Amino acid sequence: MLVLVTGGAGYIGSVAVAELITSGYDVAVLDNLSLGHRQAVHPQAKIFELDLADKAQLSETLSKLRPEAILHFASRSQVGQSMQQPFLYLHHNVSEGLNLLEAAVTAGVHRFILSSTANLYDQPQKIPIDETEALIPGSPYGEAKHYLERALFWLNKTHGLKFAVLRYFNAAGATTTLGEDHRPETHLIPLVLQVALGQRSKITIFGDQYPTRDGTCVRDYIHVTDLAQAHILALQALDTRTEPGLFYNLGNGSGYTVREVIDTATRITGHSIAQEIGPARAGDVAALVASSEKIRHELGWQPRYPDLESIVATAWDWHRRHPRGYGE
Ligand code: UFG
Repeated sequence: MLVLVTGGAGYIGSVAVAELITSGYDVAVLDNLSLGHRQAVHPQAKIFELDLADKAQLSETLSKLRPEAILHFASRSQVGQSMQQPFLYLHHNVSEGLNLLEAAVTAGVHRFILSSTANLYDQPQKIPIDETEALIPGSPYGEAKHYLERALFWLNKTHGLKFAVLRYFNAAGATTTLGEDHRPETHLIPLVLQVALGQRSKITIFGDQYPTRDGTCVRDYIHVTDLAQAHILALQALDTRTEPGLFYNLGNGSGYTVREVIDTATRITGHSIAQEIGPARAGDVAALVASSEKIRHELGWQPRYPDLESIVATAWDWHRRHPRGYGE
């Protein structure tokens, strides 16, 4: 089966590509390489350097390739940036996603998996958060993902497109060869590890007055390999389950504060990590912890790295061995 992966040169997409190939799928990667790294793409995947804004080239590529499924990772993905530059998300993330969907249904693609986000749960009534929680986007980033989820709902009705929506909590960790290298980096774990490596002088904690156990934000960190595995299970489930669309939250069910992440990294790296308190970041939700009972129960998903220690340890291993990331 040929699977097309958009954003297959990015952090999560590249790991999904590797896992798909290991599981026996043929993979084509579609990436404009603006945020991703060519070196992260598995050598057995065919890469198409293409921008989702380019409708004509996109349609031509899809009708030529005729993939049997699309996994859509390509996206700007920063909550904070979306509060500063909302149109990058409300306009570009949405229109590029719609270009892809239009090209997909025109080319007769029947299976689609969307990378969605925990940022849809801005005001959770219950922690851990399950899929019945009200969808209230917490930022333009979340709003754009919500719109694409709705587009899938309608394309299922109009074109019979089978789809799965995977709402990630905080992706983290690395494989032995693939890790997190954003330019600039904004995510907590890689930034903390850069302090441990001496590449940064300190980590700024964005706010310590949240209603949490130590005043800093609580997040549920999930290993990137476990996320990738969930995509493979969801892809298989599109052919066996009868619901019009599948919706799953993906996290480990344990929340850690920013301070706890820093303490864990201090223990694992053996380096002290200088920290300061800064202002809260616009768009941040106090606590996001997933219930992933639904995907465990329905698809048999089982994380290999269910605890923060092992997630940070894999990330540290990668950062130590790739101190300049992918090195461009
Ligand atoms: N944080 C800091 N200092 C930093 C960076 C982050 O204190 O320098 C804090 C943030 O305020 C937040 C936590 O660390 O509380 C995690 O922040 P990240 O930037 O690593 O991740 P986010 O929770 O903002 O967002 C990530 C993904 C989103 C996804 C979201 C879902 O980037 O795409 O998880 O929970 F939507």
